Amino acid sequence: MNRIDLFSPFRLDLLDLPNRIVMAPMTRNRAGSGNAPTVLNATYYAQRTGAGLIVTEASQVSPQGVGYPGTPGIHSAEQIAGWKLVSQAVHAARGRIFLQLWHVGRISHPSLQPNGDLPVAPSPITPAGQAWTLDGMKPYAAPRALETEEIPGIVEQFRQGAANAKKAGFDGVEVHAAHGYLLDQFLRDSTNRRTDRYGGSAANRARLLVEVMEAVAGEWGGARVGVHLSPTNVAFNDISDSDPSHTFSVVVRALDRLGLGYLHLVEPGPADPVAPGPRLDAAFFRPLWRTALIANKSYDLPRANKALADGSADLISFGTLFIANPDLPERLRRGGPFNTADRKTFYGGGASGYTNYPRLES
Ligand SMILES: Cc1cc2nc3c(=O)[nH]c(=O)nc-3n(C[C@H](O)[C@H](O)[C@H](O)COP(=O)(O)O)c2cc1C
Repeated sequence: MNRIDLFSPFRLDLLDLPNRIVMAPMTRNRAGSGNAPTVLNATYYAQRTGAGLIVTEASQVSPQGVGYPGTPGIHSAEQIAGWKLVSQAVHAARGRIFLQLWHVGRISHPSLQPNGDLPVAPSPITPAGQAWTLDGMKPYAAPRALETEEIPGIVEQFRQGAANAKKAGFDGVEVHAAHGYLLDQFLRDSTNRRTDRYGGSAANRARLLVEVMEAVAGEWGGARVGVHLSPTNVAFNDISDSDPSHTFSVVVRALDRLGLGYLHLVEPGPADPVAPGPRLDAAFFRPLWRTALIANKSYDLPRANKALADGSADLISFGTLFIANPDLPERLRRGGPFNTADRKTFYGGGASGYTNYPRLES
């Protein structure tokens, strides 16, 4: 039997992926007016169709779900039309693309919200740090806790976003429940102090995410839907949990019952500080998850091939390397060389640091 590596094909539902290389979702803050994607964004994604699967940058499901300038939405007709440019360009270049659905929760600022409203969260706990607003960095405001009666409205925002993604021509959707945004704020006990059925036990904290996934799967069929989790992230967006191995074991088991297409897992990177307790990597979650598992963080070719060969992951996603290397799969195949990403142009700007990274000479 052939050994599985990054260049082995993979079948995701009815999609044939020519390799196991996934482009990780990455916010680039380059949407056009009305937070609608443009031809520039379509060019960027079409340059990266060597990936077995592209997951787009996070896309807010409602005006309330926005947390930064220039991030694309998926709630207006203009945004759907903009995303259609992207999906068509990717398909014309023989690629496959899922849209990442996002609500930032408390990681926002009244100046970005409709009517200057307070951002919403599971509980009124202000994140440490500063919000990026149209007028520069500002301290975060204390968020408003969502009423229990408002929760179906959040589920509906994700369902509508998923329906809009279908109209925009995507191949599927990934729900962003990682990195300290709204759904992650519900999962963790540092940000969720609710006393209703969406707070307390890990099963209760997982309830909103489960309801969102059921609603999104209702639009697409579970197999075309993925979920993004980052159990060990504590550095980004001031999020933590008192018992992450318990919390995320409960979350992953609950999601596994829904028959989703994949779990996209941000693991501890090799250079991250070692946390107490079990290492919450792909090997830890593999026995709890029946369908495809995408592993992420700081992968290089040898580490990726090892994870695929030992069966702890089915696919590997690459973030920073894909920013700087539009032809990353070909470079991985040849063993390099790799362009270095310029961090100054990660968030915002135009074509520079976005669509002008060179490809290998053919
Ligand atoms: C510029 C940038 C933007 C990112 N935006 C998102 C995002 O929108 N959604 C998300 O789930 N993760 C986001 N991430 C995290 C990446 O998907 C990925 O987890 C991270 O880059 C680690 O992978 P890597 O070591 O291969 O870069 C972002 C990362 C970077 C560098």
